[in-house]
Amino acid sequence: MLKSIILFSFLVGCALALGPAVLATKGAVWPKPQAEEKTQDYYTILPHGFNFKVPDNVGCPNFLNDALTRYWTIIATAGSKVSQNSWTRFQADGNFLGTLQTLNIDLEAGCESEDIYPKEGDSENYTLVVDAQGATLSASTIWGVLRGLETFSQLIYVEQDSLIINGTTITDGPRFTYRGLLIDTSRHFEPLTIIFAMLDAMAYNKFNVFHWHIVDDHSFPYKSRTYPELSDEGAYHPFSKIYEQSDVARVIEYARLRGIRVIPEFDTPGHTSSWGASHPELLTACYSNNEPNGNFGPMDPTKNSTYDFVTQLFTEIVDVFPDNYFHIGGDEVDFTCWQNNPDVGTFMGENNIATYKELESFYIQHVVDILDNLESQYLVWEEVFVNGVVLPNSTVVHVWKNNGLTTLRSVVQAGKRAVYSSCWYLSDLQSGGDWNGFYKCEPVALIDDEAELDLVVGGEACMWGEYVNEFSIVPRVWPRASAVAERLWSDREVTDVNDAARRLEEHTCRMNKRGIAAQPPNGPGFCP
Ligand SMILES: *[C@@H]1O[C@H](CO)[C@@H](O)[C@H](O)[C@H]1NC(C)=O
Ligand SMILES: *[C@@H]1O[C@H](CO)[C@@H](O)[C@H](O)[C@H]1NC(C)=O
Ligand SMILES: *[C@@H]1O[C@H](CO)[C@@H](O)[C@H](O)[C@H]1NC(C)=O
Ligand SMILES: *[C@@H]1O[C@H](CO)[C@@H](O)[C@H](O)[C@H]1NC(C)=O
Repeated sequence: MLKSIILFSFLVGCALALGPAVLATKGAVWPKPQAEEKTQDYYTILPHGFNFKVPDNVGCPNFLNDALTRYWTIIATAGSKVSQNSWTRFQADGNFLGTLQTLNIDLEAGCESEDIYPKEGDSENYTLVVDAQGATLSASTIWGVLRGLETFSQLIYVEQDSLIINGTTITDGPRFTYRGLLIDTSRHFEPLTIIFAMLDAMAYNKFNVFHWHIVDDHSFPYKSRTYPELSDEGAYHPFSKIYEQSDVARVIEYARLRGIRVIPEFDTPGHTSSWGASHPELLTACYSNNEPNGNFGPMDPTKNSTYDFVTQLFTEIVDVFPDNYFHIGGDEVDFTCWQNNPDVGTFMGENNIATYKELESFYIQHVVDILDNLESQYLVWEEVFVNGVVLPNSTVVHVWKNNGLTTLRSVVQAGKRAVYSSCWYLSDLQSGGDWNGFYKCEPVALIDDEAELDLVVGGEACMWGEYVNEFSIVPRVWPRASAVAERLWSDREVTDVNDAARRLEEHTCRMNKRGIAAQPPNGPGFCP
């Protein structure tokens, strides 16, 4: 009886829950700044009566102008102008500071040149003050200005048809320098318009690394200038489902202007079926009953020609992608064809290689040497570390499997740097908005030592492409990846899920308003 009463009142409770499940905040920032104080004082903003003021002789006027134009448009389209009624009401209010016409930008050092690229370890810190004297954004780098502009745009909210910004003092900077999102364009091809939308959304969430998992088993959409046959034969379609060199350049430029690094991944020796469409000799022939059975496994680590090919291709990749880092993969190598192929067995015998893990290490060691010769640094999936490949300390080990917290700890205890993804696989779906699980995940829960903490450079949300295409990837990722963005940017103590839910409700509507097809995070609700 008691049970049914409880059940009954629960149902009534639901039926009476009129209105949105979670009440959105107004003018709250996502991800939450490190230090923020707000006052009851406020300005109105007239959408078309607002401008930015930059110092004379700023180092990179074009770069800055591009950002200011974007944010001017966001602000100008954020709301309508103040009505006569509300103006009268504001003027009678002691907290009203007037109309804010200018955001002063104080870019301390400017930037060396217009074609500066964001790189590992660059400062993204900024301070933003809105008070009775006006509004000023200060930063020492262009990247800090970009992050501060995003914050400024988020502080503005609509109240009774007017744009409002409260008195605010923010001192901000990221907790982790590497805050990435992986997009897989091999399982499903994603057109440039979608990649641009994803980069926009990344900027709205202060992500700074686009990990471009560009090729894999299923297709090879990258059009190489050295080996164009790789995409001619290995893409889903040789010209409608590929990235031309000019497309890649546009993606890198679009990202750069938003302070986002583009790190390509060319995963080997596994995940390379698509390479074999034009170059079957790269792959290990699989055998049954001592005969080749027509199938192919991972790359063939026994042939010098394999390494010559990889050297040529990677020389091109290092030239095409300006970032210092290159993700060389190394995950999930299936040893079956190595085990069956008699030539591989002979090679192992001749070279004193006892196990397939050692053979994998032998292969990766060659790739690592190739990258060292090219003076490129690299990320590797965790298997490479776990299997004992000799890696320089500059290597970043990308932890992704179960038990990631323990693996992460062993990586940093070995003096290697690490990026964490184990709990941020966006391909894993649960019912509800399901961002809470991503939000609650604390990457360094098992690490106390300061020096070891410093080796955790950040984390990455991974959107594997099996079940998303151009029609579903944007709502699948946003706002779920926003939870990861806040975990990686904000202070470790920022863990209040209820507060986050209210801010995320607002932030999702904000993304929608800016044209990002983000899905609702919290159940029933609406965007004003
Ligand atoms: C912003 O100012 C308004 C108007 O005075 C006030 O109602 C609101 O509480 C302020 N917001 C914060 C977060 O202090
Ligand atoms: C930048 O901000 C981060 C996070 O608040 C802080 O740890 C770091 O010390 C700041 N760096 C500088 C140079 O102020
Ligand atoms: C492959 O390269 C190694 C190292 O340069 C060399 O010792 C070996 O003879 C080469 N093998 C073949 C089959 O050319
Ligand atoms: C790499 O890190 C380990 C562990 O912290 C340390 O012992 C070693 O000296 C470092 N190697 C270099 C070349 O700095």
